[in-house]
Amino acid sequence: MSSAGLTRRELIQAATVLGTGLAGTGVTAAAAAAHGKEEAMTNAEPARVARETMRGVPFERRETVRIGMIGVGGRGSGLLRDLLGVEGTQVTAVCDVVKEKTERAAERVEKAGQPRPALYSSGEKDFENLCQRDDVDLVYIATPWDWHVPMAVYAMKHGKHTAVEVPAAVTLSDCWKLVDTSEETRRHCVMLENCCYGFWEMAVNTMVHQGLFGEITHGEAAYIHDLRDILLADSGEGLWRRKPHAERNGNFYPTHGLGPVAWYMDIHKGDRFTRLVSMSSREASLTAYRDAKVASDSPKRKEKYRCGDMNTSLLQTALGRTVVLQHDVVTPRPYDRINLIAGTKGAFRDYPARIFLDGQEGGHDWQSPEPFKEKYQHPLWKNVGELARKLGGHGGMDFIMNYRLVQCVREGLPPDIDVYDAAAWSAPGPLSELSVAKGSAAVEFPDFTRGKWKG
Ligand SMILES: NC(=O)c1ccc[n+]([C@@H]2O[C@H](COP(=O)([O-])OP(=O)(O)OC[C@H]3O[C@@H](n4cnc5c(N)ncnc54)[C@H](O)[C@@H]3O)[C@@H](O)[C@H]2O)c1
Repeated sequence: MSSAGLTRRELIQAATVLGTGLAGTGVTAAAAAAHGKEEAMTNAEPARVARETMRGVPFERRETVRIGMIGVGGRGSGLLRDLLGVEGTQVTAVCDVVKEKTERAAERVEKAGQPRPALYSSGEKDFENLCQRDDVDLVYIATPWDWHVPMAVYAMKHGKHTAVEVPAAVTLSDCWKLVDTSEETRRHCVMLENCCYGFWEMAVNTMVHQGLFGEITHGEAAYIHDLRDILLADSGEGLWRRKPHAERNGNFYPTHGLGPVAWYMDIHKGDRFTRLVSMSSREASLTAYRDAKVASDSPKRKEKYRCGDMNTSLLQTALGRTVVLQHDVVTPRPYDRINLIAGTKGAFRDYPARIFLDGQEGGHDWQSPEPFKEKYQHPLWKNVGELARKLGGHGGMDFIMNYRLVQCVREGLPPDIDVYDAAAWSAPGPLSELSVAKGSAAVEFPDFTRGKWKG
């Protein structure tokens, strides 16, 4: 076996399959072989054992939701702050490889009037001890990407529902692993896609479903966020989030943009993504920034980044809709998730929020969405929006997401975002890599629901 865990034959096969298609894509032979394995997963479903779906399966009702948190770095701390403000939650256990972080989290839990949680910080496998506790109903996972799947799988196998940060998985085989484990264990694997709970995202979802934009044909979504300082930092995400830029080339962080558009399009409630094509620009901005900011003797100066600055992927759905999905975390430009939805009667686009309705006064210009705000405001924002804005990160949407998840458990409802959504919204990461590696050829989008998307 090679160091990448691939046989020599697989390496040769992949290089032959991709052949000259590798030129200009920045794909190494080892990466190509990994892509070959991943490609087999795009249509892996027929070979799988049919299991009972987790779609629409309610949580068992619980008055108090007991939470175990794994990872209390930047994101985990924010989630903890929100959860401590949600009625009916108790944080019973906290795990992080950095002991001081667990201590800080425990202080905050106690300050909120709850008993001191059990703490786990003895190495990178100590999360297993947290998962084995019998006073944890739901395990929150806010660790670096590569840890999401092993942690969620272990937690589900030990009887816990899981709530995983984004993206839930970074390979197709791991997307399937989450689906298989959730179905096998009958435990939910929710993805913590906070952007679905933004004020405008929820209002636009109501507008779409009340027919304001007519028949929906097209959406656009993105994660455009200048993260150059964070990527090059010596702490937090800088310790792990730059690595994929040296190893992969694609749309790494698809869920923030795609999740809301998937809701507008009723993905897995009557439609599904069927194929994807993807193209990356050349890489330039991260290298230029690194060379300008990082000392010449730093090991970072030796790194070679493969991921193109801008990745543009195009998805098609079973009902023939299209979605443009972009990813760019290195270009100096304003933050943008685009959040566009269009149909036979009009369109909405965010950043800034604007609306266009067929036949409106004012010709071809967008209009302000303010007049629509009150009418289409989601009841969750009406009821807890003020608290959310005060307590929660990202303008309050994080609090609304956490509030809603706890509400689903307390009221015995199915989660809003289940394992099939987690897999399908994360899958454009590996699928875009495959497409880019094949010179932007179309790749099949797996049906993670095994045919249950129609209901
Ligand atoms: N939804 C959002 O808006 C949003 C925002 C930021 C980050 N995130 C996601 O949250 C996750 C965490 O990102 P972050 O910014 O908090 O990163 P971070 O590096 O600040 O925090 C990660 C934490 O995980 C801990 N950790 C690493 N390996 C561990 C292990 N084996 N066991 C226990 N703890 C371990 C680290 O010590 C660290 O405290 C990522 O998946 C990221 O994509 C989501």
